[in-house]
Amino acid sequence: MTTTAERTPGPDDDLIMKVTDVEKYFPIMSKGVIRHHVGDVKAVDGISFNLRRNETLGLVGESGCGKSTTGRALLHLQPATAGSIVFDGHELTTLSQRAMRPLRRDIQIVFQDPYASLDPRMPVNSIVGEAMRIHGLWNKESTERIRVLLGLVGLNPEHGNRFPHEFSGGQRQRIGIARALALEPKVLVLDEPVSALDVSIQAGVINLLEDLKNRLGLAYIFIAHDLSVVRHISDRVAVMYLGKIVEIADTSELFERPAHPYTQSLLSAIPLPDPRRERARERILLTGDVPSPANPPSGCRFRTRCPKFANQLDDSQREQCVNEIPALDDRGMGHDVACHYAEVVDILA
Ligand SMILES: Nc1ncnc2c1ncn2[C@@H]1O[C@H](COP(=O)(O)OP(=O)(O)OP(=O)(O)O)[C@@H](O)[C@H]1O
Ligand code: SF4
Ligand SMILES: [Mg+2]
Repeated sequence: MTTTAERTPGPDDDLIMKVTDVEKYFPIMSKGVIRHHVGDVKAVDGISFNLRRNETLGLVGESGCGKSTTGRALLHLQPATAGSIVFDGHELTTLSQRAMRPLRRDIQIVFQDPYASLDPRMPVNSIVGEAMRIHGLWNKESTERIRVLLGLVGLNPEHGNRFPHEFSGGQRQRIGIARALALEPKVLVLDEPVSALDVSIQAGVINLLEDLKNRLGLAYIFIAHDLSVVRHISDRVAVMYLGKIVEIADTSELFERPAHPYTQSLLSAIPLPDPRRERARERILLTGDVPSPANPPSGCRFRTRCPKFANQLDDSQREQCVNEIPALDDRGMGHDVACHYAEVVDILA
């Protein structure tokens, strides 16, 4: 028999989550009395990634590319249509909601809008303590624990009897974070946690999240539009386009050596601190709308907006983009890119 002490650590030992080929389709039904299944919104269409313990993985991409749907699938709030999500050794996709319940403690979510996500009729103490009650964990120490949690997120524990409207936006987001931490989770999905906040208070919440991650050994999935924030907080970054991950790499590698034309266009929109370089640099503008996830383009789904496809490829190369779905291939050092003609361009130099 192998004891824990004898066990040789495997390559996956530092993984808290392993996501493989996950799809989330929303059925489209015809109108009328007898409704038929006429298609699917392929919100997430076969994504794979790992999350290590105590790691922050940034998830970026335009509105509608499937970031929040991915987050909800990871929490099993909207179960995946296909694929595998292994969390801390447990396969989540086959669990019933009942069987998922004890694991729900370990994966928590913080939403974008601190105004909409807190019940205005409940005092803060009840909001933060609610999950402990739901999970049957309320005991005589819980009141003190709520005070500790409020202090941990930088709020005055004396203010626990106040209601959400008595707090500013940044403070409300801190309440949301305290609530998410109440059950001592291992993973937090942060769905645009600072997008609704004034720029002046975003930094305080970001610093708090970094501090909590280090103190509590948390892992984060950090969903955001703002690439500067993602660059600051993430260890690795995954770029999504129309339900797929098109590039994933360590943060410095992705920002310094982007290889997918979509990532390059996103990075070209980040303002450079040096005004001379900023004036001289070229933006890579994407034309056209994002296609519908109900009917994505064949082959590479970025091709209808890809500047490289439009300006640099010959006919036979274009044919490959139209006919073959590019695999997310490892270019070394964990830098994976899904493009037939991937080529590093230093956008931020
Ligand atoms: N319950 C649903 N039923 C049908 N379609 C849905 C549902 N939820 C999301 N979608 C669709 O799935 C796609 C992905 O949505 P999602 O909210 O995950 O995008 P997102 O990347 O989080 O966007 P944003 O940056 O605007 O928050 C969109 O086309 C959206 O309209
Ligand atoms: S596979 Fe072709 S269309 Fe897609 S990103 Fe690469 S060059 Fe552009
Ligand atoms: Mg979203």
